[in-house]
Amino acid sequence: MATTADELREEVRRRYAESARAVSDPAGECGCGSGSCCADEGESAVFGETLYEAEQRGELPEAAVLASLGCGNPTAVADLREGETVLDLGSGGGIDVILSARRVGPGATAYGLDMTDEMLALARHNAAAAGAKNVHFLKGVIEKIPLPADSVDVVISNCVINLSVDKPAVLTEIVRVLKPGGRIGISDVVAEDRLSADDRARRGSYVGCIAGALSKGEYEAGLEAAGFEDVSVEFTHEVADGMHGAIVKAVKAPEPERKGLPVIQPAGSPGCC
Ligand SMILES: C[S@@+](CC[C@H](N)C(=O)[O-])C[C@H]1O[C@@H](n2cnc3c(N)ncnc32)[C@H](O)[C@@H]1O
Repeated sequence: MATTADELREEVRRRYAESARAVSDPAGECGCGSGSCCADEGESAVFGETLYEAEQRGELPEAAVLASLGCGNPTAVADLREGETVLDLGSGGGIDVILSARRVGPGATAYGLDMTDEMLALARHNAAAAGAKNVHFLKGVIEKIPLPADSVDVVISNCVINLSVDKPAVLTEIVRVLKPGGRIGISDVVAEDRLSADDRARRGSYVGCIAGALSKGEYEAGLEAAGFEDVSVEFTHEVADGMHGAIVKAVKAPEPERKGLPVIQPAGSPGCC
């Protein structure tokens, strides 16, 4: 059982390495062909491939669709335009990077960032199978993004920020890499404000994207403190009692409006699940 932030992050990495292996090797130890096998029991209907339109699924290699572990479809909410540079935080099997690459066109780049080698290998394989050339997968953590300041137009992410052991660092890093006026279109699990950290932890595990979720109020406050404006957090579908898949949107505020960050603790103690 994980007790420190480093141990918790390692538990997350192991969980998603296993999920990538399950998709890459369906007959292997995990015994299932879909990444959703590694979601908590009963959650597969609210996470993963079913959240994409059939038309989008049809554009993608089967392994990319099967590897989908998200809680929404950020490419549908980010309103991507031709020529934009996009960064997907926690890109997993690459589904949103491949879809983004198509939206921004061959003259622009879609980056995927992930800490799990097995996911990066799967994403590169899927991108090659999809014929996507304007994609670039980076190894690293979302708390320290390996890209220069002011280099990205749009940051997307699908069910990953809840897994971070340092959410203020993630939000600060997103602001740093976004160009002035840059925006986010993020899908994530978000709790109703009535739920305490312990309530969230009782509803599901940290690695299963539940216990580490921020509440709506915490998300909004964290984004504003990090330097965003026009912040909105909208629930789309319930994933557990009082916990929702949500669309998170915001725009990087002009320089003088950015302030210091409050401390946001991830919901649930690291060892809870
Ligand atoms: C729930 S999966 C979502 C994958 C993908 N976004 C999707 O929709 O299918 C979480 C992914 O985020 C990655 N991840 C989790 N925490 C991370 C962190 N702190 N830094 C980088 N990657 C992380 C995991 O390796 C995994 O690939």
